[in-house]
Amino acid sequence: MAGKGSCRLNSIGFGTWAWGNEFVWGYDPNRDDGRLAATFRQALSSGLNLIDTADSYGTGRLNGRSESLLGGFIEALPASRRSQLVVATKLAPFPWRQGRRGLDRAFNASQKRLGGYLKRVQLHWSTARYAPWQEAALLDGLADLVQAQQVDELGVSNVGARRLLWMQARLRERGVKLSSVQIQWSLLSPGVAPAQELLDLCQALDIEVLAYSPLAFGVLGCTPGDTPRPSTWLRQRLFRRLLPESLPIRQLLAAIARERGVSMVQVALNWCRATGTTPIPGIRSPRQAMDAAAALTWQLSEAECFALNQARERCLARMPSNPFQSR
Ligand SMILES: NC(=O)c1ccc[n+]([C@@H]2O[C@H](COP(=O)([O-])OP(=O)(O)OC[C@H]3O[C@@H](n4cnc5c(N)ncnc54)[C@H](OP(=O)(O)O)[C@@H]3O)[C@@H](O)[C@H]2O)c1
Repeated sequence: MAGKGSCRLNSIGFGTWAWGNEFVWGYDPNRDDGRLAATFRQALSSGLNLIDTADSYGTGRLNGRSESLLGGFIEALPASRRSQLVVATKLAPFPWRQGRRGLDRAFNASQKRLGGYLKRVQLHWSTARYAPWQEAALLDGLADLVQAQQVDELGVSNVGARRLLWMQARLRERGVKLSSVQIQWSLLSPGVAPAQELLDLCQALDIEVLAYSPLAFGVLGCTPGDTPRPSTWLRQRLFRRLLPESLPIRQLLAAIARERGVSMVQVALNWCRATGTTPIPGIRSPRQAMDAAAALTWQLSEAECFALNQARERCLARMPSNPFQSR
């Protein structure tokens, strides 16, 4: 695989799904917002500039919460710092958002919540599995926004190599560059062969790959002796299954981390970077922000990459796939 020692080094961003989501992440506005503001400031002062959010981050009455929190945090920054950020949101192609103008209202609402600081708009998932005829229209609508200079960059998410090739060609005809594709990518991510095919294609086409859930929801940060109990039932269930199955790979992460005097999370993020991707870990404390940024200060050796790739091939543990991931 491309990662075998080919340590082409991308940057690191951060993700904000947990900033508003109650079901998976147990978000509580009264308890969490102060800590998230401090996390944001720490991430930026540690040099993390790429921020991923989505219009669907924030459940129920908290709809759009991740974007509104970010909008407020960004507004408080000096203008010179703001201009260095790449704020990327994802618009959900819900079945009721149809046609070329189907995402316009959602785009305007996101832009408003983000205080006008949106730089990249991304299609959150492919509609190939349930409404393939919608995809061209929705993509054309996003390309219109770029051509009208309402936003600078366009990305997509949860697409496979075949769909990506088609999307890239359609955008190229319009003279719009596809900046990034976002897929689940970690030492425990599913669909290794198709994901690798996508990575190879992106390298050939010069499209940045953003690795989402690079820590397998936090499993890859758990030391072999850890028995964490995450706050929500969904994560508890996932940890119960994945912790035993991922023990060999976590033992290797811990050994590399110990040898280098870094954290397991840093090793897992640098494995993503070594595969040519830009990881966007979910962070929600200043300590986690500093830890993610510290991974930028070093890189894995070829031998370490090789050992991790081998362990990954043998590992039984796999994260669930995104149901809307296309081929
Ligand atoms: N395009 C898509 O469909 C899609 C899907 C999923 C995610 N994403 C994006 O990708 C981002 C990241 O993925 P994710 O949030 O699903 O999962 P992740 O990055 O694999 O895991 C995040 C969790 O790992 C733990 N963690 C983070 N830093 C740590 C550290 N230094 N030490 C120990 N534990 C640490 C934290 O758990 P605790 O807070 O419990 O400690 C954190 O909440 C999301 O926020 C979102 O922006 C996109």
